Amino acid sequence: MMKKAGVAILGLGVVGGGTYRILTEHREFYRRTQNVDISVESVLVRNKQRALDLGVPEENIAGSIAEVIANPNVDIVVECIGGVEAAKDYVMAALHEGKSVVTSNKELICKYSHELERTARRNCCGLYFEASCVGGVPIVRTLLDGVQGNRISEMMGIINGTTNYILSKMTEENEEYAAALAEAQRLGYAEADPTNDVEGVDAAYKLAILSSLAFHTKVPYAKVYREGISSVERTDIVYGKQLGYTLKLLAIGKNTERGVEARVHPAFIRNAHPLASVRDAYNAVYLRGDAMDDIMLYGRGAGALPTGSAVVSDIIYAATHSDIRYSTFRNTAGADRETKFISDFASAYYLRLSTEDQTGALAKVTGILARYGVSVMELIQKRPEGGAPDGPVPVVFVTHGTTENSIRGAVNKINASGIAQVKALIRVEA
Ligand code: HSE
Repeated sequence: MMKKAGVAILGLGVVGGGTYRILTEHREFYRRTQNVDISVESVLVRNKQRALDLGVPEENIAGSIAEVIANPNVDIVVECIGGVEAAKDYVMAALHEGKSVVTSNKELICKYSHELERTARRNCCGLYFEASCVGGVPIVRTLLDGVQGNRISEMMGIINGTTNYILSKMTEENEEYAAALAEAQRLGYAEADPTNDVEGVDAAYKLAILSSLAFHTKVPYAKVYREGISSVERTDIVYGKQLGYTLKLLAIGKNTERGVEARVHPAFIRNAHPLASVRDAYNAVYLRGDAMDDIMLYGRGAGALPTGSAVVSDIIYAATHSDIRYSTFRNTAGADRETKFISDFASAYYLRLSTEDQTGALAKVTGILARYGVSVMELIQKRPEGGAPDGPVPVVFVTHGTTENSIRGAVNKINASGIAQVKALIRVEA
């Protein structure tokens, strides 16, 4: 017998609108291929005209969240309104009523999944959030279903399209940060206030969610180290190119014998690394498992239809699975006491210094690096065109693998020495 599922969509913005379109256009296809009839029974919108323009019948436009929740034809509530205050209240109301929830809201899941999941468990309903991370790339389902036979030791991703677009422009068209950001805003990739994207907040929410799933332990947002791209300078991208590296905003999660680490920051990767070819607003996630070895998922991390695709896959899953699965880890507000988090990351580093062109200056700098156990792997010293013969010279070092504490100790010492100033410090990851 064909299953039936009634859906309510809260919010018909980019993601809600895309979801509505996919569900209505593919309804027959899902009946035939999934043996499920999914109907949109209700929508909740601020602007009624938007719903009418999308073709929602007037009788399906709800006047309040209470009306949506009380509708007996609604089995699954899809939250696409964004923000956390109202979204949390609406999702809680749906779960209390025993209705499963599908959400695209990364901030909500990152901050409150422990409360939402507890309520879902009590009321025997599901909480699905594929669309909260990396848009049309099915990374959540992959972690929950596709790779669960593995111990995942590492995740490395480009999980923010806005910053990837900006860095691609700076790299390929030699643009300054401000010009690349303005272009991203003009194209609608970056918001008028771009802080959440460019400072790595959006990527850190996603990394917290994904690394919790990958490593089977709660990784709260507060445990994610974060640096954005707003102070990246074009000159470092150019030096990186000379050395064979591409600069990306990486989200990195590791689970090693030392403990768990989660960090978002700009990083150089070798041009030959698969992530280096992820350009423009595209996203990708690279996973390493003990059995499968390395895999990479690639696609669009945002947009009406890609993110709508993720929402719809959750709706179909919720409508066709009676066994509800919850987190594989203790989903509490904070980190699990038994999990050790590492902040003294191991990495190689790119350093750009400005130094006075004096006899022995370089020897003093390398002497300080050596004292901190930091070994130099590559070096560029080239007077800029038009630079005064006795003026300051930029010197670029790439180190062998070291630790965060060692490099920071060496950088502080170099800056205090009066011989040189460190102008840029960028991790080199792969
Ligand atoms: N603003 C995000 C990005 C998309 O640029 O990737 C939604 O998470």
